[in-house]
Amino acid sequence: MTTPTNRLFRLRSRPHGQVTERDLEWVEESMAEIGEGQALVRTLYLSLDPTNRVWMSQLRSYIAPVELGAVMRGLGVGQVIASRRDDLPVGAFVLGFTGWQEYCVADDSVLEFPFTVLPDPLPAPLTAFLGVLGHTGISAFIGVELGDPQPGETLVISAAGGAVGSIAGQLAKQRGARVVGIAGGVEKCRHLVEDLGFDVCIDRHSNDWRELLDDATPDGIDIDFENVGGPIMDHVLSRLNVGARVSLCGLISEYGNYNEHSDQLGLRNVNQLLMQRVTLRGFIVTDHIDRYAEIIGKLAAALGEGSLKYDETIVEGLENARETLNQALAGGTRGKAVIKVADSSGVLRQ
Ligand SMILES: NC(=O)c1ccc[n+]([C@@H]2O[C@H](COP(=O)([O-])OP(=O)(O)OC[C@H]3O[C@@H](n4cnc5c(N)ncnc54)[C@H](OP(=O)(O)O)[C@@H]3O)[C@@H](O)[C@H]2O)c1
Repeated sequence: MTTPTNRLFRLRSRPHGQVTERDLEWVEESMAEIGEGQALVRTLYLSLDPTNRVWMSQLRSYIAPVELGAVMRGLGVGQVIASRRDDLPVGAFVLGFTGWQEYCVADDSVLEFPFTVLPDPLPAPLTAFLGVLGHTGISAFIGVELGDPQPGETLVISAAGGAVGSIAGQLAKQRGARVVGIAGGVEKCRHLVEDLGFDVCIDRHSNDWRELLDDATPDGIDIDFENVGGPIMDHVLSRLNVGARVSLCGLISEYGNYNEHSDQLGLRNVNQLLMQRVTLRGFIVTDHIDRYAEIIGKLAAALGEGSLKYDETIVEGLENARETLNQALAGGTRGKAVIKVADSSGVLRQ
């Protein structure tokens, strides 16, 4: 086959605040023929995640920063279009670190997290494997499990309208907890309560969000499913009950600041972790790869029986990934944010 031209984003500088064209450069490059032990994967859908913003920084993290000059790291679903590997046959749909590029060469050197071949026939649309049946749905499951909500307990969840929060809230509800979401905007809050079954949702843009949260948690807070950090987490900490649990999933309010020498970061109410004898557990979803099949099976069953719903924002065109990531980080998307890179309708089969 003739080798395609690749279009991709390379990280040129570490962003301050929003990601600019100078930070992530959109380039066109020719590709070499694949060699022995390699496969060529065409990216179909790219996952946009808050953690992309962390990877662009130099923060000491669970994974190395993206090196300057490198293709931007990203998780995607693609299709194998040429292969000299038995484990990645032509036509297979695969999940893995495609990067922010239209075509990706898969070989042992880049397979730090190997590509997974998706089941055939597919039990769900391809995008679901980047969201509800992928790393965000699995994070929601693990975070709720760690928080261990009991019937009648109050669980507060921040970034509740996002890919993780919207699933976590529904899972906590199924365990009998009273679920209070915090999200950006009246319409997102309405959707979470009326369509996804949250008990209450507080609009974080209201001037009196602290008072609204106090009113919504008259008996205090037993579980904090924490996605944002900053002032929201600080206020939630001040309302934790004795023996409360914090599932620390993310700190999105900080992610734009990791290249700044800022003293803005930090929490005042850490003392409540001590005074209320709280258990705080940070977790990273990829530490639980051995449980993915089990958890995906449970989430797929809940989807099948209609007890779990999910939202997606799908934006067409890889060239729009940088701008869409900025929008997603600012709350401009609902549920899982995904870029449609190429059509999967011209499906290849061997
Ligand atoms: N630990 C893990 O393994 C793991 C895995 C996946 C994700 N995560 C983390 O989980 C969190 C949610 O991820 P996601 O995939 O659900 O993200 P997402 O779908 O992109 O949603 C993120 C939402 O956070 C809200 N937000 C942004 N800035 C905020 C701020 N300063 N204060 C309060 N809210 C803010 C925005 O919603 P509103 O405007 O509606 O508030 C935004 O839409 C992130 O922190 C992410 O890093 C962790």
